[in-house]
This record gives sequence, C-alpha cells and structure tokens, in this order.
Amino acid sequence: MGALLRDGIGRTVDYLRLSVTDRCDLRCVYCMAEDMHFLPRRQLLDLEELYRLARLFVGRGVRKIRLTGGEPLLRPGIVGLCERIAALPGLDELVLTSNGSQLVKLAAPLAAAGVRRLNISLDSLDPQRFRAITRNGDLQRVLDGLEAARQAGFARIKLNTVVMKGRNADEVLDLVDYVIARGLDISFIEEMPLGDVGHSRGERFCSSDEVRALIARRYALIDCDERSSGPARYLRLPDHPGTRVGFISPHSQNFCASCNRLRITAEGRLLLCLGHAEALDLRELMRNEADDRALHAAIDGAILEKAAGHDFSLAGDVQVARFMNASGG
Ligand code: 5AD
Ligand code: SF4
Repeated sequence: MGALLRDGIGRTVDYLRLSVTDRCDLRCVYCMAEDMHFLPRRQLLDLEELYRLARLFVGRGVRKIRLTGGEPLLRPGIVGLCERIAALPGLDELVLTSNGSQLVKLAAPLAAAGVRRLNISLDSLDPQRFRAITRNGDLQRVLDGLEAARQAGFARIKLNTVVMKGRNADEVLDLVDYVIARGLDISFIEEMPLGDVGHSRGERFCSSDEVRALIARRYALIDCDERSSGPARYLRLPDHPGTRVGFISPHSQNFCASCNRLRITAEGRLLLCLGHAEALDLRELMRNEADDRALHAAIDGAILEKAAGHDFSLAGDVQVARFMNASGG
C-alpha cells in the first residue's frame, strides 16, 4: 500500500465521499435552487474514472467510501460500480447516501453488490410537507423504498433529517418514533450555507441543542462516545437499544479537529473541506493521461493544503458558492 494520507496538521484521511452525479429527481429547498442546471454529461467522471479514483484512494489507506450525489441511484451503471468498488482489497465498507426514490427497484441489487449501509434523506412524514420541502417529491415512494431497503439486509439504515423551524422542527418526535418502531438510526442535521437556494437560512435555523431538548421531552437520552467516522455525535435511548440518534452540527459543534474525510465532486474535483473553495482537478489530470504515480503526487500536494476548519456563520448566508448536489452531501 502507498503512504497514508496525512494532512498538514496531522489528521489522517481514511474516508472518501465520492459524488457520482450532480443530478437529482428532487429539489430540496436547502440543497438546490428551483431552477437547476446540471452539468453536461461529458463533464461528469465516467464509470472507469470513478473506479480508478476509488482504487487509488483505497490504495492510500481509505477504508470507507460513501457514494453520494445528487442522487447516486440515478447514475446509470451504479450497481456495477458498487460491485467493483466493494471488492477493492483494503476497503472496510462501501456505504451510500440516497433520497430513497429509486430504492424499490435498487435496494436488493445494491445490497447484493456489497453496499453495507444506507443513509436515506427524509425530512417529513407528511406527504404535503414532504412535497413542499423537496419541491416535487412523492413521500410514499420514498417510504416504499425504505421498506425495500429494510428487507434487503443492509447492516444499518440511517435517516438524515435537516431540521428547519416552521417546516419540520415539530416533527422531530414523530421521526424518532418512526425510527424506533423500525430499528433504524437517525441523524438530525443543522442546515449548512451552501449555494444560493433562495431563502435566508438564519430564519429557519434550528440548533442541535434545540432538537435534543425536543427529544428529551419523550425519551431518556444518554451520550455515547461512539463515532461512525463521520461528523455525527450520537445519543442512545436506553429504552430503545436498536436506535441511535445522531446530530450533525456544523454551526453549534465544530467537528473539524477530527475531520478524516475528503470529497470528490461529480466533476472530479477533490475537495479538501466542504467549507472552502480549494480543489484539485483530478478529472483534468486523468484526461491528460496522468499515470497513477502522477495522480498520487498531485493528491499528496493537495492534502497538505487541507484547511484546519470551516467557518460557517449564519449571518452572511451563502459562503460557498457551490451547491450541495455538486459536492456530495
Ligand atoms: N445543509 C445541511 N444538509 C444538507 N443536505 C443537503 N444540503 C444540505 C445543507 N445545505 C443533506 C441532505 C442529505 C445529505 C446528503 O445532505 O439532507 O441528507
Ligand atoms: Fe436531491 Fe439530496 Fe439535494 Fe434533496 S438533498 S435535492 S435529495 S441531492
């Protein structure tokens, strides 16, 4: 194996989030503008390029890969890609984040291909609200997809919920009940200011502490030290051992000091931090015939520049002019 990926301040990267498409069939209000323009297809990494990058990073000590989008399951060939990546020696787990819309048909093939865990985005259990938040989504289709995933035998399934006042904050307890009844996990996410999505985010902001207080009205909660190698902090419900409740708190609990991840956008730009614009254009290198050695050298140079931390503030709103669907949530 090549040298481990260590950044300029001693953090080791062992987790790669790889976006396989910028396209999505939903238009979540915090993620996209209503009128989105997607990239021309040739600007996206092709399946061979995606696989090559996965192989290179696993060769440098990456043990966990998360495929994201956009909606990764809209990418033609995704199941075959999963199968190839899951088989890379040295990779501990291949996981995937999805909006659930394609899971009725794809849950079983993905589990068979070696995807171990799924994160499914779900912000409301109310069909009208779900439609409003996603601007066109069909809740029942996602709930059916979630059931298909439960049947398919993934090691864990976790819901991801972005909590917004006036939109879904009053559903926190319903969502917790929902996951408890099904033995799922859930993470509540503070909205991050990525891309101009046409609303002011400060107004809707709901902190993780507020969410926690809502849950504590109904359930006993205990902190636990468990980390999933992602940014979430987890709580256990002593009366419901099958469920973990996580909080992803980019505003109220900065998690940069333990950051162990890199992202690659659907266009093949290596992002060192979601909160910074610096990136390395891996697609250009690959399309200019760079060999593996040259790619490794470029990655080594870039990783030394990984920023110590992000600085999202609620006041200025858009701070990184990049939409979440391009960088992979
Ligand atoms: N802030 C926080 N979370 C976001 N997501 C998308 N955009 C944002 C944002 N601006 C979340 C989605 C999904 C995951 C991929 O990223 O809810 O669960
Ligand atoms: Fe699509 Fe996920 Fe963005 Fe919603 S948050 S628009 S499901 S990529």
